[in-house]
Amino acid sequence: MKTLVINHPLVAAKVTRLRDQDTTMPQFRQLAEQLVNLLAYEATRDLQTQPVTVITPVAKTTGVELPDPKPLIVPILRAGLGMLEGMTRVMPTAEVGFLGLVRDEETLLATTYANRLPEDLTNRSVFILDPMLATGGTLITAISMMIKRGAKDITAITLISAPEGIKAVEEAFATEKISIKLVTAALDEKLNEVGYIVPGLGDAGDRLFGNC
Ligand code: URA
Repeated sequence: MKTLVINHPLVAAKVTRLRDQDTTMPQFRQLAEQLVNLLAYEATRDLQTQPVTVITPVAKTTGVELPDPKPLIVPILRAGLGMLEGMTRVMPTAEVGFLGLVRDEETLLATTYANRLPEDLTNRSVFILDPMLATGGTLITAISMMIKRGAKDITAITLISAPEGIKAVEEAFATEKISIKLVTAALDEKLNEVGYIVPGLGDAGDRLFGNC
């Protein structure tokens, strides 16, 4: 897996605001969306395009458009939903699949409770959205499901990642020949004893949507 930690002053300043326990829910949502906008540029850098003719008011010329089959964005429910708008704004022609994975707080293992994914992902670029890469269990499950469906180009976009999670994902797919990329806004220090990222930002789902 290729990991890219985005080192940019705008990203760093927004992550700092996101971490602050006094940042309100509306502010948190706005910051998450803005961060995804910024991360999306790097995450889509290798996206294949196809040539297209365009007629300007002055002349006919050739440009590019996004490929067919269209890229697929997959937010992991529920926290990944807070990143969806930011991604579709940058890539409005992409399709959106949904995956509901919940982490057992004792075993830290992920189980699937919702799945709305195309059966065939052959030749499609897939962008998985999940704000926190903690133990890596959720992302490993999500990537495995995409690989089973034939995806050959998978990018995970996270806001904050823990070294333990990155290592787990790297080890899980070490022998895979396909392209797996992680684009993250911050690489934190560690996980604590209950699987939270330190310093992190707390529970991303709660901070985006409340504790319900
Ligand atoms: N999920 C979260 O929302 N926060 C963490 O710190 C770890 C997992």
